[in-house]
Amino acid sequence: MAIKTVYALVIAVIVTAVVVGGGLYYYYTTVLAKPRANLLEIYHWWTSGGEKAAIDALVAVFQAKYPDVGVIQSPVAGGAGYVMKAVMKAMVAAGEAPDAFQVHAGYEMKPYIDAGYLDPIDDLWAQQGWEEVFPPVVKDMVKWGGRYYAVPVNIHRANVLWYNKHILDQYGIDPATLETWDGFFAACEKLRAAGIRHPIAMGGIGKWEIAHALEQIFVSQGIEFYQDLINGKLTDPNDSRLVKALQIFNRYLDYVNPDYATLTWDQAVARVIRGEAAFTIMGDWANGEFLVAGKVFGVDYGAIPVPGTKGIYVLVVDCFERPKGARHPENSIKWLIVVGSREGQDAFNPIKGSIPARLDADITKYGPYQRQAINDFRNAKYMAPSIVHGSGAPEKFASAFNDISSAFASNRDVSAACRGIIDAINAAKDEYVKEWRLY
Ligand code: BGC
Repeated sequence: MAIKTVYALVIAVIVTAVVVGGGLYYYYTTVLAKPRANLLEIYHWWTSGGEKAAIDALVAVFQAKYPDVGVIQSPVAGGAGYVMKAVMKAMVAAGEAPDAFQVHAGYEMKPYIDAGYLDPIDDLWAQQGWEEVFPPVVKDMVKWGGRYYAVPVNIHRANVLWYNKHILDQYGIDPATLETWDGFFAACEKLRAAGIRHPIAMGGIGKWEIAHALEQIFVSQGIEFYQDLINGKLTDPNDSRLVKALQIFNRYLDYVNPDYATLTWDQAVARVIRGEAAFTIMGDWANGEFLVAGKVFGVDYGAIPVPGTKGIYVLVVDCFERPKGARHPENSIKWLIVVGSREGQDAFNPIKGSIPARLDADITKYGPYQRQAINDFRNAKYMAPSIVHGSGAPEKFASAFNDISSAFASNRDVSAACRGIIDAINAAKDEYVKEWRLY
């Protein structure tokens, strides 16, 4: 080897050592030695008017307790988390989990737990006395393998039919007649005859808005049927209850706004608020939209269980958890404590439209819709976990269900949809690991 080459090599080695060594020295003395910023970073999808007001109220409770912690909210728009869920999976898998993120109780948590991305929080449950204050049905939904992995902040009801009371009054429609599908469709016909071509408002931009309506129609076909559905026990595409549900949905779609596929859930609710449509089926986060619009329950709007679902409470439960490797582990725990606290729940839920997950809430803080909901929850004959909102069935089925519902809304092919449901159950066969007993 020429002497010059040897010199060049030696110099290159020295230069590399100096650069790398200097870099490491800088990293250890400056970056690592610097105290980490005292932050809490949370992700959620609460971006509509009512949703944002509610999460801001919860964050305000946290900030009053921990004024030295900077809170970074990272909302990802898209109702029911249809955008955020994919974002979060990728972040968590890449080791970039925030300090806590919104997740539904039940099956939606499972992939994270299976991959070891969440810390069990049994100690926190014990320390906070949560065992005593949350209802059994909710406790079961946040436990996997006998361990707690999340804290519920609320209980939403999915099977709610919202109506514009001024329209109903004007056309002499008694809400008591809306308890059956026939009564409901008679009211739609009446309104159409009076010039309201599309009395039902529906969104569909994320597909789930359509599946949400169909899910409630499924529930209306009986708790036995719904239990079979979520346990993956339906096998026959000609099952009369399945066919009937699709036929009802077909009729329902006759009265829906044709531009549904471009509409978000809250834009659909806004049409009812403005009196452009009379009805919408949506979870009781819709109540938050009526409230921020300054509407008064019982005067401007009303709500009843979706036809055929009286006595059933379709559950949607929002939670936060403790991701493994969270950057600010202590703040993550502080956040969970606030989320599970009576004070936190009583600040968040009166605005959000949900009822508190805790049983010891201060009812005087809640408006008339929620007081009625709290009462309905306590007296419910059956509780049923929502598929569309992450709880009732494996994610693989839930996502196929969104696609089937949205395809049906345009092709209106009852037998294709029935076959699609059975195929989707079969395709997810191995993932039904929970046996629901709803009755
Ligand atoms: C969540 C609610 C939320 C709604 C619309 C549901 O899945 O549980 O908290 O308001 O989606 O975004």
